[in-house]
Amino acid sequence: MSEIKNEVATLDLMDSKHEFPIMEGSVGPSVVNISKLYAATGQFTYDPGFTSTASCESTITYIDGDEGILLYRGYPIGQLAEKSSFLETAFLLLEGELPSNSEYKEFSNAITQHTMVHEQLRNFFAGFRRDAHPMAILCGVVGALSAFYHDSTDINDPYQRMVASRRLIAKMPTLAAMAYKYSVGQPFVYPNNELSYPENFLNMCFAVPAKKLIISPTLIKAMDRIFILHADHEQNASTSTVRLASSSGANPFACIAAGIACLWGPAHGGANEAALKMLAEIGSVDKIPEYIKKAKDKNDPFRLMGFGHRVYKNYDPRARVMQETCHEVLTELGIKDDPLLDVAMELERIALSDDYFIEKKLYPNIDFYSGITLKAMGFPTSMFTVLFALARTVGWVAQWNEMIEDPSQKIGRPRQLYTGYTERDYKPADHR
Ligand code: CMC
Repeated sequence: MSEIKNEVATLDLMDSKHEFPIMEGSVGPSVVNISKLYAATGQFTYDPGFTSTASCESTITYIDGDEGILLYRGYPIGQLAEKSSFLETAFLLLEGELPSNSEYKEFSNAITQHTMVHEQLRNFFAGFRRDAHPMAILCGVVGALSAFYHDSTDINDPYQRMVASRRLIAKMPTLAAMAYKYSVGQPFVYPNNELSYPENFLNMCFAVPAKKLIISPTLIKAMDRIFILHADHEQNASTSTVRLASSSGANPFACIAAGIACLWGPAHGGANEAALKMLAEIGSVDKIPEYIKKAKDKNDPFRLMGFGHRVYKNYDPRARVMQETCHEVLTELGIKDDPLLDVAMELERIALSDDYFIEKKLYPNIDFYSGITLKAMGFPTSMFTVLFALARTVGWVAQWNEMIEDPSQKIGRPRQLYTGYTERDYKPADHR
């Protein structure tokens, strides 16, 4: 719970003073509560991109962008990536505490028992063109889940919310793998409840009926880590989208589909795909200076994909873990002479030592390394954001539950600074 501080913020506005309470969280900047500003002054605040606005109170994830800290329920991301598993981390994000042995058993069994999707969902896939982007497919089929699971769409029933949350976490790997299989023209592989969460996903993606697949433990571990690192990231664009969509009372499957749509953009989850495309476009180490020049040119819209972050103005703590995982995977697969990798490593070196990037605090972000890792594991670039969505479903669901349980929750409705025409009269077509 936040605490109201004794201090207040005073706003001096056109000869009148107004006081607003200051609220303090457990760590991080305090906030000025301006919820009564309009009632008191008739004015709104203006904050495009919400750079100075806290949209909610939350106990799930904490980021200190200046220090490069990311905590899930208080636990540092590095410790979770090293010692936890994705399912254990999912429990932590959803329930607030790490599970006991019996809690973990119950939770992982429940997730494992819900991995299959309704057989009729296969028909949805057939409606897409073969060259459809798997994110387009995922947006559609996740939204469609609300047409299949009517018994878990009542958001006011905590039990139905729990069932919907677990269904989403359990079925997302199956749907993501189906989207991939459809795009490469291979038969869908059913989930195998004997396998762990990451292994089952890799199996559904890469197994074929004609040949047995043995997946290396290094790749299973890497997949699990990638899921942990992407599981939540406080009030980012897609999470805020999920919260905004659900603030109207929409059902959970529709809200998660909205989050997936938002995540798709290249400034958010689409950055890992964009980063790899950029590395391919650069092509060779000797071309890097040309692209660095473009990135610095104010008149050129080009940006180095996989660099910079809205919140981290220090090294992204997830990027550190991802860099290590990236090297483990490349070593395991014996990939040494990949031109793309050469470009990536040299780009990283130059950007970390170039004044422009240092001054603007533009460090490589998680997407820079995850793209390289996923490519090495055999995923096409079009699947990168799908994997992000799969993992982030846990965070979306945790934040969605928190929002519904928050007594101060109301429908999200930002205001605007209107700069269009003032009232004018309609003119018939021949007078325009
Ligand atoms: N390459 C070159 N210049 C950049 C870059 C970049 N990647 N990112 C920011 N800048 C410059 C920008 O031009 C601006 O310069 P100036 O002050 O001279 O106008 C300055 O740095 C600040 O940029 P901004 O757009 O105001 O910063 P932001 O906090 O709004 O943007 C960002 C954050 C992630 C959208 C941006 O850094 C970017 O577009 N990066 C590339 C895309 C990317 O990798 N996105 C993944 C983010 S991590 C995944 C996630 O958590 O969702």
